[in-house]
Amino acid sequence: MASFLSDEGRYVGIDVAPAVIDWLRENYGSKLPNFDFVLLDARGTKYNRKGSVDPANVQLPFADASFDVACAFAVFMHMSLDGIRNYLAELSRVLHPGGSLLVTFNAIWEDEDEPEHRGRRYESLGGGLYTRQPDKQNASMGHHVTLIRELLADAGLELLEEVRGQWHATGVSAHAHGSDLFALRRP
Ligand SMILES: C[S@@+](CC[C@H](N)C(=O)[O-])C[C@H]1O[C@@H](n2cnc3c(N)ncnc32)[C@H](O)[C@@H]1O
Repeated sequence: MASFLSDEGRYVGIDVAPAVIDWLRENYGSKLPNFDFVLLDARGTKYNRKGSVDPANVQLPFADASFDVACAFAVFMHMSLDGIRNYLAELSRVLHPGGSLLVTFNAIWEDEDEPEHRGRRYESLGGGLYTRQPDKQNASMGHHVTLIRELLADAGLELLEEVRGQWHATGVSAHAHGSDLFALRRP
């Protein structure tokens, strides 16, 4: 992004993990003046247990229609459905009409049934929701593609493209993740 954006371009990165934001600010804050790194105190089982705000109630600290592009990579597998719904609505709100949104899920496709990833099976919880960690809440969630399409449509987003992730392939290195990508447009 640093080499892509012009001086007028702006990038904002958001995360709930203070160490991540602190590291980015320390290492890039002064080098990249048009980059901001924002800590959001949203609660989550894996990354921010003591967060003060339920992701379902998060309001992104940005004005309506203030971004051209927004991305959420490998975030929704750690959130509740209500949290995802709210994030999609918020991401849509901050995009200009015609703006692009890229999000990833670990999608369970129509031809799959409880697939496995890195030795752990996605167990169905019903309603299109799956988990690889049934002992934890919203820790490593999978979503059936029908549910994903519903969530995206409910947020008023136009689906442009679905790209199947590498994690479905057998023999892929344990380090290759490659979640499923959904490219969207705010009408
Ligand atoms: C698997 S990592 C992905 C990191 C990075 N986006 C990437 O693609 O390499 C998940 C990230 O989502 C962040 N995260 C978890 N819950 C979040 C939430 N409710 N809001 C924003 N970020 C969240 C975590 O702190 C973590 O940095």
